[in-house]
Amino acid sequence: MLNFATQIAREAGQILVQYLGTAKVTIKGDINLVTEADIAAENLIIERIRSYYPQHGILAEESGEAILVGGKRSEWKWIIDPLDGTTNYAHSYPCFCVSIALEYKGELEIGVVYDPMRDEMFAAERGHGATLNDRKIRVSSVEELSGSMLCTGFPYNVRERPDFARDFTKFTMAAQAVRRDGSAALDLAYVACGRFDGFWEDGLSPWDIAAGALLIREARGTVTNFNNEPLDIYTVKVLATNGLIHDDMLRLLR
Ligand code: IPD
Ligand code: CA
Ligand code: CA
Repeated sequence: MLNFATQIAREAGQILVQYLGTAKVTIKGDINLVTEADIAAENLIIERIRSYYPQHGILAEESGEAILVGGKRSEWKWIIDPLDGTTNYAHSYPCFCVSIALEYKGELEIGVVYDPMRDEMFAAERGHGATLNDRKIRVSSVEELSGSMLCTGFPYNVRERPDFARDFTKFTMAAQAVRRDGSAALDLAYVACGRFDGFWEDGLSPWDIAAGALLIREARGTVTNFNNEPLDIYTVKVLATNGLIHDDMLRLLR
């Protein structure tokens, strides 16, 4: 199943590359975008799952939840973000990815994040570690917030939630550097492989988080909500770190 997930993530990534710079963009809501590429990539992923695993449920960003199979609730659920980083994508800013995860009985089993621009495949299977292009990855060993490179994301409804700026200021003053890349799934993958030491964001959805959360756990990092409770991907606040700076980040988020 991990091979299947990486294969469909790669195929979906190729669709994103093909449409880059020419995809028609429409606005859903206030500033939330969707492009032809989101839809085409999601359709491909769903089609593949339907033909290989017709008994499995699906939760996909653009088409919603379909977990009833033949009138019964499936214990398997694919959680899909066909294009994470749509705003970047719509501006041809090359920072976006495909994110695919698989849950069984509510537990994350598989997580895949694919960046087609760099041809980087991040993959994890519960209990088997995490890899980047087939090489084992681990979170960083930075111990101090003052020496750490952090990342965050701003919520789409940022105009109604200026409080996000307070945390951004606090971390900017405390860390070595803070970045805002615009693709939460990729941000989490970067924590898993040690490029970032920590990531926080308020306002995420399960398809942004699912694959990245498993990558972090399997790379021996820590992922919780802002109250230090184990992460439930159906809640919106995520703190993911190398484990060593987790308490310091929690303190600043309180
Ligand atoms: C968004 C990105 C962004 C994050 C937003 C997400 P989308 O996903 O992950 O980094 O800040 O909260 O909604 O809409 O590009 O798939
Ligand atoms: Ca997303
Ligand atoms: Ca998306």
